[in-house]
This record gives sequence, structure tokens and C-alpha cells, in this order.
Amino acid sequence: LVAGVDSSTQSTKIVVCDAETGEVVRTTRAPHPDGTEVHPDRWWEAYTAASQQDGVLDGVEAIAVGGQQHGMVALDEDDEVVRDALLWNDTRSADAAADLTAELGGVGAWVDAVGLVPVASFTVTKLRWLAEHEPENAARVARVVLPHDWLTGRILQQGNGFERWTTDRGDASGTGYWSAATDGYRTDLLERAFGRVVELPEVLAPTAAAGRTADGVLVAAGTGDNMGAALGLTLEPGDVVVSLGTSGTVFTPHDKAIRDESGAIAGFADATGNHLPLMCTLNAARVLSATASMMGVDLATLDRLALEGPVGAGGLSLLPYLDGERTPDLPHATGTLSGLTRSNATPENLARAAVEGMLCNLVAGVDALRDNGVRVERVLLIGGAAASRAVREIAPGLFRAPVVVPTPAEYVGVGAARQAAWALSGASDAPSWSLTLDSEYAVPEQDCSDVVARYGALLHTVHGR
Ligand code: XUL
Repeated sequence: LVAGVDSSTQSTKIVVCDAETGEVVRTTRAPHPDGTEVHPDRWWEAYTAASQQDGVLDGVEAIAVGGQQHGMVALDEDDEVVRDALLWNDTRSADAAADLTAELGGVGAWVDAVGLVPVASFTVTKLRWLAEHEPENAARVARVVLPHDWLTGRILQQGNGFERWTTDRGDASGTGYWSAATDGYRTDLLERAFGRVVELPEVLAPTAAAGRTADGVLVAAGTGDNMGAALGLTLEPGDVVVSLGTSGTVFTPHDKAIRDESGAIAGFADATGNHLPLMCTLNAARVLSATASMMGVDLATLDRLALEGPVGAGGLSLLPYLDGERTPDLPHATGTLSGLTRSNATPENLARAAVEGMLCNLVAGVDALRDNGVRVERVLLIGGAAASRAVREIAPGLFRAPVVVPTPAEYVGVGAARQAAWALSGASDAPSWSLTLDSEYAVPEQDCSDVVARYGALLHTVHGR
């Protein structure tokens, strides 16, 4: 048996799989506080609580952690946490991102250096913020690791097997000071952001072990949650994943680094030695819950109403940037409802506009992948909002690709478990686990390009993009 840990923004889940087949044998879960900054001890407490349920780890030979990307876990000389970790969804370093972009001579220089354009989510901007706003904390920092690195190290410390801090290519590629093109750290960029170089975790190869506990459990490298999901979904060429959870992401495994100066696509690495070009938005599933609460209905009712609304929501458009947005880079934006008239002011249109607006934001990601030479044969829809029938049925027309929904499962946990099985096997390829698809939705005959075009025009009018 192998175990995968999904340490996400809200909770820690443990998924135990058969190492040969990938069949999920047991899962447990424990919540931890969410928000945009949290003390890493809360992740450890949630992991400990999840690991103590139902003998979940009994018989497990290898384990790996998939964690929320980008979070800044700053440690002092004694490995004590210096301050609460600033997470991927924390936008306080937006000005630092703009400053760093300008200092290096613009977006092109950053894309050349590390494959991405700095936004508040990336670790490098959080370090600049720390140096500028909390100099006393900054002075104590001896090393910086990511959420999955920290939990991996903690599991090893607990199991008396800790030797050094480690990370993997996938998570390292989201820092802003590691280059997927050269497979190396850019400590010059770290120094530029933070004023000095600090110790960074060793970047492990996809099948390398971070260590073994005294009991002999192999602890694999682990990775970022999106890289974990890509591994758990056993993707085929032409598969593009759209995840509608706390964050909205669009990604696909790719054999070369994508260079996108528009900043829509970040040139991340994946957990297999390849690349994972990815777009991330801050407003996904929450757009539906916020609209439902504004309308005073539950999510099931919102879903039904959206399905009753016409394509284009009678002319209503929603730019869903409820709490600022990351892609497009509008950290201070708020949402905009546009096109309201007396005749289209119906609950059906409002519900439909919410679903269309949430999806149109991600269509931009799918199209940006297309613009960068990715073949989009089908979209795999995952994440909490993929449970919505309205989302499933409306998505194919907007994405201009058939949509498949994998059987509900813990992809990040399964992906981390697959990495653990891979490291355990020592084989050159990841074990060939397979994916079960729940349902398939075809592209409708009715053309939906007007809806996407209207959304684009509104974005331009309101935010000049
Ligand atoms: C990706 C990103 C999010 C987090 C969510 O760049 O910031 O998807 O990884 O946990």
C-alpha cells in the first residue's frame, strides 16, 4: 500500500492506494483553518488527526505529500517557523510583484529567467513583501520552504528520518526563483527580492526519496497540488484539465516549457520531469456560492436556475473578480454585473451569468494554451464546482471542446500516492494506474462564441485588458 497526502488550503486528506493498481483503499480527512495566512503547525495537526483515523496508514510502505503551491514557509536557524505562512491566495504582495517586474526590465526578462511573470501568489513576491514590511521577521529567516516541503520534512522529523529540507521540480517551479528550463535555482532573483540569499530545499528528481522513517516507510519527494492532480489523472496528450475549486486552474502536461509573456500561462514543471503550463484564477467555485447567497438560494437551486436560463443569459455578463483576480492580474478588482435591463432581470439569467462568467475566465486559459501550440482534444473537469450539472453542460460550448468528468476521487492524494508507488518501485516510468470517467458532455450545436466575446469586451471596458 502507498499513501498520498493532499494538504490543501482547507484540509488535509490522506488517500491510501494499492501500489500496483492504484485502487483507492482508504481515505481520511481533517480540516484546518483556511484563509490566506496560517501557521504550518495547523497543517501538521490536521495531518496527525487524519493519520490517526481508522488505522489509515497501517501497512503503508511509501508516502508522498501534494501541497498547495507557492506558500512562503520561512524558517529560522533552528527550523522554527518565523511567521504564519503567506499562502498562494494572499494578495498583499501585489505591489512587490509590480516592483520586481519593473526592476528586472519587464515581463519578458522574468519569463526568460523563470518561465513566469511575478504575481502576488508566487513565493518570490512574498519574500519581497516580508523584507519590506516585517524587517525583524525577515532578519530571522535562515531558509524558505514550501507547504509540501515543510509537511514532508515534518513527517520525516516525526519518524526520526529527517536529514535535510527537500522539494521537487513541480513545486520549485512556482517559487519565481527556480527555472524549469535550466533545472536550477536563480538565487540572484531571490537575492534581488529578499536582499540576501537564504538556504533553499534540495530539488529532488521525480522518483527520488526525501528519506525514510525509522520504521522504514519511504517518504517520496512530494509535489505541488496541481502537479499531484496531473499525476493522479493519468492524462493523455490532448487532455486539458480545468479545476474548479478554491482556485480555478487550467493545465496540461507538456514536453517543453511554454513561454507566455501575457502572464496568463505560468511555465511550471510537472512531477514527472516534464512541464505543466498552468493558468490559475482566484475566482472559481466561490463565484457560484456567492451568487447563490446573493440570490438567497442554495447551490442546487442555482444549478437548476442556470440550466433554465438561455445561452448568453439574456445579455447579462458577470466578471467574477470577487476578491481581486490573479489572471488577469487585477489584484484589487471587484466583480461587475453588466447588461442588466428590466426585461432580463430574472433569477435564471443571473444564475446562468454566474456560471458563464466563472467559466469564461477559464476559457481564457484554455485559449492561451491553444495559442501556445497545445492541442485541446478534451477538457477534464474536476474540483468542487464540477459537481454542478449546469457547469458540466454549459462548459463544452464555451471551451469548444468535449468535457469529461472523472469519477469523483481525490486526484491530488491519488497523484501523490502514485508518486510514492513510483519511488517505491524504482522503475523508470510511473505505475500505469487508470482513470475512470463518470460522464461525457459533447460540444453543443449552438455557437457560444458571442458569450465569450462579450465577456472579453467587458473585461476590456472595465479593466482595460
Ligand atoms: C496554482 C495555485 C493554486 C494552489 C491551490 O498556481 O496557486 O492552484 O496550488 O492550492
